Amino acid sequence: MKATVRAHPNLALVKYWGKRDDALILPHQSSLSMTLSPLSVRTTVAFGTGSADEVELNGYVAKGSERDRVLRVLDTVRAEAKGAKLGPAKMVSRGDFPASAGLASSAAGFAALAVAARAAAGLPADPQAASMLARLGSGSACRSVQGGFCEWMRGERPDGTDSYAVQRFDEKHWPELRMVVAIVSRDEKEVKSRDGMKNAVETSPYYPAWVKDAEVEVVRAREYLAKKDLQALGEMCERNAWRMHATSLAADPPLCYLMPKTLELIHSLREQRKKGVPVWFTLDAGPNPCILTDAAHELAAEAAAMACGATEVVRCVPGGDATLLAEHLF
Ligand code: DP6
Repeated sequence: MKATVRAHPNLALVKYWGKRDDALILPHQSSLSMTLSPLSVRTTVAFGTGSADEVELNGYVAKGSERDRVLRVLDTVRAEAKGAKLGPAKMVSRGDFPASAGLASSAAGFAALAVAARAAAGLPADPQAASMLARLGSGSACRSVQGGFCEWMRGERPDGTDSYAVQRFDEKHWPELRMVVAIVSRDEKEVKSRDGMKNAVETSPYYPAWVKDAEVEVVRAREYLAKKDLQALGEMCERNAWRMHATSLAADPPLCYLMPKTLELIHSLREQRKKGVPVWFTLDAGPNPCILTDAAHELAAEAAAMACGATEVVRCVPGGDATLLAEHLF
């Protein structure tokens, strides 16, 4: 009745930005990401404890919408386990990287929760079911159940039963690939992804063009990954990040996640490329650029980030699947 799972965050190379169904968390378009090691979140879930559900995230008792999102995942597992009468749950989750710093800690957290809750309930290991369950907590989390490079297929069904992530390449496919995360600001972002993307869907005149383009880019990204074509993948990554941010810049009210240091680093990477250094950025809904490069140039990417005022740099490699651990958090 107790299980602990470690999951890695993921960073989208082709981003998810906008829902067609807010309640079921169904996206307008498919997306594709790289799972990031060594960053990780560990989560323990136990059923049949105490008199009410307990949710602890990074040492704090979760409240409000944070707690509700976790309970939604736990309730879905309780419903699926039917006759098992699982009872109240206790969940403790700890990440080894800062939440809300532009890194998808929620993605790793909900993926770990989904896999741990299913295991604690005695449900069979099933990446597809775990991915759909993680999606109910946070959309991008469905891509953190498996390692390597995962594609979240938007699906067509209104009930969301065909909207989950599949692994396209595992973490051993391209071990030399690097994602260098540059922290230029640790401030909590003012507008969370959930609200930012809703604003873009509802008010940005560029939104329909974004959806059409993203679907095509996913197919291209798959092809570039298959060929291990860093330049084509890097150029696509930058293009996709700019287009996602363009939808929000054109929304009402307009939303700009970029900070001066973000732009400084983006321009500096362009200069590096002129000198033959293969470095390209991608940017989630925050100010911290992530630099796509290879093992031979990760130190150059780190140096460029530090020179532009990054306070911290994390060098990541393709990470593995969410996995069960023998040691529990409580
Ligand atoms: C910019 O998955 O955090 O990181 O589904 O509302 O929880 P919700 O949103 P979330 O959004 C992630 C947006 C993104 C792009 C991406 O990861 O694909």
